[in-house]
Amino acid sequence: MNKKRQTVITVTGYIGFFLLTAAIIMAGVLIYSPVAEASGGNNAVIAGVMLAVIVVLALICTLVDFLRRKFTVDKPVREILDGVERMARGDFSAKLTPSHAFEDYNSFDLIKDNVNTLAAELSKTEIFRNDFIANVSHEIKTPLAVIRNYASAIKNPALPEDTRREYAAVLEGAAKRLSDLVTNILSLNKLENREILPKPEMADVSELLRERIVQLEDTFEKKRLNFDCDIDDIITPADVGLLEIVWNNLLSNAIKFTPEGGNIFIALKDSPRFITLTVKDDGCGMNAETGAHIFDKFYQGDTSHSSEGNGLGLALVKKVVDILGGEINVESAPGEGSTFTVRLRKAEENA
Ligand SMILES: Nc1ncnc2c1ncn2[C@@H]1O[C@H](COP(=O)(O)OP(=O)(O)O)[C@@H](O)[C@H]1O
Ligand SMILES: [Mg+2]
Repeated sequence: MNKKRQTVITVTGYIGFFLLTAAIIMAGVLIYSPVAEASGGNNAVIAGVMLAVIVVLALICTLVDFLRRKFTVDKPVREILDGVERMARGDFSAKLTPSHAFEDYNSFDLIKDNVNTLAAELSKTEIFRNDFIANVSHEIKTPLAVIRNYASAIKNPALPEDTRREYAAVLEGAAKRLSDLVTNILSLNKLENREILPKPEMADVSELLRERIVQLEDTFEKKRLNFDCDIDDIITPADVGLLEIVWNNLLSNAIKFTPEGGNIFIALKDSPRFITLTVKDDGCGMNAETGAHIFDKFYQGDTSHSSEGNGLGLALVKKVVDILGGEINVESAPGEGSTFTVRLRKAEENA
């Protein structure tokens, strides 16, 4: 929107004010001869009458200026002050009405417009803050309840050894969930505040991805997932830590949302300016409604097992992709699996 920055008193206003002042002074000058004539040249009378005329004319000027200020300055300033005071009290519903049509906006109208935008933004932040607190509390409560219950159960001396080991594993899982939550929130916060900036260093990206896949072999085997990959040899400047956030989350989702015996495929492809990572699974997939929200913080689709993850994974991936100057696309349909494709611009070393 292109907003003109008009002054409070417009050119027309100045011309009007000039003509009015000129007319009043002219009236004072024109009145001199009739007064002089009527007084028969008596200087004392002329001086007295002229003084009275000047006082009256000055009063008229003051009144005109008073009215002008009242309507063009005091009124909008008071409205703006009222609005800002309401905002200071936490009421962001206040909406200030500009006094002119959009194309004739003056500076006060622009200030009102900006105060309205500020109120809308603050109200969004407020809603976001409340949602955030509710989401974090919810995510913390579940593993904490698990920890409390299993910790008290494990105290029972009569517990068989294998059950105790099983409970200890549950405790470990819940603690890991809490620590993942905190790590994800901190990383997301840093990425959003631009505290993490890419620090590309020459790296064998393909080797790092292969290493990660090897680490996941146990998980693939446990879930009897068939795994296939097509990885180009890519040695390029890259911020390895950020790349890991992307493939770790896409891989863990593919594993999580693919039932036993399913298939997962990963490709890393090189081109002169981009590297493209594809993670494809033939798991539960998602509908369009879910697809529209997967990058929102704390969003978990119906198919997500709420005991795993916290809905921050893809929000993190999206932020990283934005920071690295790339794009992420998803193709998915319920029951037909999902394909996530991330295209990242190649970095320059230590850029
Ligand atoms: N490979 C996938 N297949 C099906 N749904 C997926 C897949 N990846 C992500 N999703 C959907 O996107 C949501 C958000 O993912 P994410 O942010 O990683 O959160 P989480 O893994 O904690 O549920 C998931 O809850 C799920 O509904
Ligand atoms: Mg996830």
